[in-house]
Amino acid sequence: MCGIVAYIGPREAYPIILKGLKRLEYRGYDSAGVALLNHGLKIYKKKGKVADLEESLIGKDLQANAGIGHTRWATHGEPNDRNAHPHSSASGKLAMIHNGIIENYAQLKVELTKKGYQFKSDTDTEVLLNFIEDIQKNNGCELEEALRIALKRVVGAYVIVLLDREHPDTIIAARKGSPLVIGIGKGEHFLASDASPIIEYTKEVVYVNDYELAIIKRDELILKNLGNEKITPYIQKLDLELTAIEKGGYDFFMLKEIFEQPDTIFDCLRGRLDVTKGTITMAGVQNNIEQLKNANRIIIIACGTSWHAGLVAEYVIEELCRIPVEVEYASEFRYRNPVIQKGDVILAISQSGETADTIVAIERAKEQGAFIFGVVNVVGSSIARISNAGAYTHAGPEIGVASTKAFTAQLVVLTMIALKLAMEKKTIDQDRYTHLINELHNVPEKVREVLQAHQYIQELAEKYKNAKDALYLGRGYNFPVALEGALKLKEISYIHAEGYPAAEMKHGPIALVDESLPVVFVATRDSYHEKIVSNIQEIKARKGKVIAVISEGDEIIPKLANDVIVVPEADELIAPMIGTIPLQLLACYIGIAKGYDVDKPRNLAKSVTVE
Ligand code: AGP
Ligand code: GLU
Repeated sequence: MCGIVAYIGPREAYPIILKGLKRLEYRGYDSAGVALLNHGLKIYKKKGKVADLEESLIGKDLQANAGIGHTRWATHGEPNDRNAHPHSSASGKLAMIHNGIIENYAQLKVELTKKGYQFKSDTDTEVLLNFIEDIQKNNGCELEEALRIALKRVVGAYVIVLLDREHPDTIIAARKGSPLVIGIGKGEHFLASDASPIIEYTKEVVYVNDYELAIIKRDELILKNLGNEKITPYIQKLDLELTAIEKGGYDFFMLKEIFEQPDTIFDCLRGRLDVTKGTITMAGVQNNIEQLKNANRIIIIACGTSWHAGLVAEYVIEELCRIPVEVEYASEFRYRNPVIQKGDVILAISQSGETADTIVAIERAKEQGAFIFGVVNVVGSSIARISNAGAYTHAGPEIGVASTKAFTAQLVVLTMIALKLAMEKKTIDQDRYTHLINELHNVPEKVREVLQAHQYIQELAEKYKNAKDALYLGRGYNFPVALEGALKLKEISYIHAEGYPAAEMKHGPIALVDESLPVVFVATRDSYHEKIVSNIQEIKARKGKVIAVISEGDEIIPKLANDVIVVPEADELIAPMIGTIPLQLLACYIGIAKGYDVDKPRNLAKSVTVE
């Protein structure tokens, strides 16, 4: 997930690229750079925002009619100047920007290193660039041909855009799995990750498809497939407004991010879960396997939604790995005098990697000798840097203040960690392991299926938007999902909501129940199902309104509940990644129905970097 802009034509390229990159900063913003082609290649890049790059370029020679620009969302290599894009090839002849992940970059890097290549950065991008140049050198072919050969070997997702110092009249691009739009101007062409940098210059665009290459000159656009066959460009007319384009056509980033989850969960699994080989590849876990599998206790530290992910992880890790787990609010842990023993492992969970309470809690634990494993979304963030090891969630930038796609990505990473540890400790048999990795593999499709019920959930939102209070109840793995559903409703619609273990109601909270109180049950089929049916009956007996998230084929709860939301069946350990989706949508649609800006809820910040 990053921003890509390129231009070739009669105008000055730099101002167009810079403005376009600012439009794309919502896609990724840890560093930025441009390459300009005019009597040679000039590359300027740095860590920080596009405005920082702009400031650093004042007074520089920026004259060029062709150029490429990039705002980075790091996946391989810390955000810093040398890892920023564009990258230049070993010969200095080529410059490239890249959006995506090259999964087999490590293998390619070994091959190139053996040939004597040295690398200026830690990125997968630079490896791919030199792989392309190496092919061109060895085969004596044109860049376009070298690119086609290289891409047949590449595993992963990419949009790449290349400049060749020796062909200043041409830009070459290729796409697989990441977005690329070409703007068709008069004697000029634009490229970008979405149409927002293009729309003010032209409304005629071509959306490049997977496995297509684009060879672009001022007044010529050639599309080809990897078999070198020409493809007729399908020119479309843009009818979206600028802001709508940035939000992918959705009215809010939160909605876009909820609907992105089939893709972000797939990205989280990509390059790690291989169902055919039955393997889970996670370097951070593998390189510290002794420390992790021999942990006598795992203490999970997090805040908010990440804390809810930690609760799910507690159930999963204890069930699969038989390691005792405690889940701590970072804001509590940091102020009390916790007992940290030798062999304790801290699992710190954070989307932003900048939450002050979590950072200080980690420091406290480190002072007492604990090993820190970070599960973080933002590469190179503070928590990523102070952890001894970790795993990124690869959910891409989460712009909506309420965490949605980061939460499900956290659950996926935490489950993969638990499965890897359980196999190492032999606390899981092969059949259960195989079953669970197949269940994980099927999550993106099941989430996509749940999202198809969005219209119905929007109707439910209309029905319940005027509630004053709400209860969210669940048992077992679904208890933390109930907590997360309640938090979503609170922070997005400002309706007071509480999450509770369903069995806990009889110890007091059931006094709250009357005909005005909606009670949301997370009641997907699992080993607690009979019990949760009784809990629903208890609420109904007191005239509570019941909304139940249930599994396909459940014939009992629809007879009891006022409303049901059906989700695909899944193993109870995987169910939270699926059962949480309707609750995200319900909260979001209620907030929208009440006329609120669900991307920026009152009183909240995306990253709580203060105490
Ligand atoms: C989530 O919807 C909330 N906005 C908030 O609770 C968040 O989860 C919490 O502040 C922790 O943030 P982090 O994951 O970036 O550490
Ligand atoms: N994988 C590349 C990197 O980490 C590109 C990341 C992006 O899409 O911004 O630099």
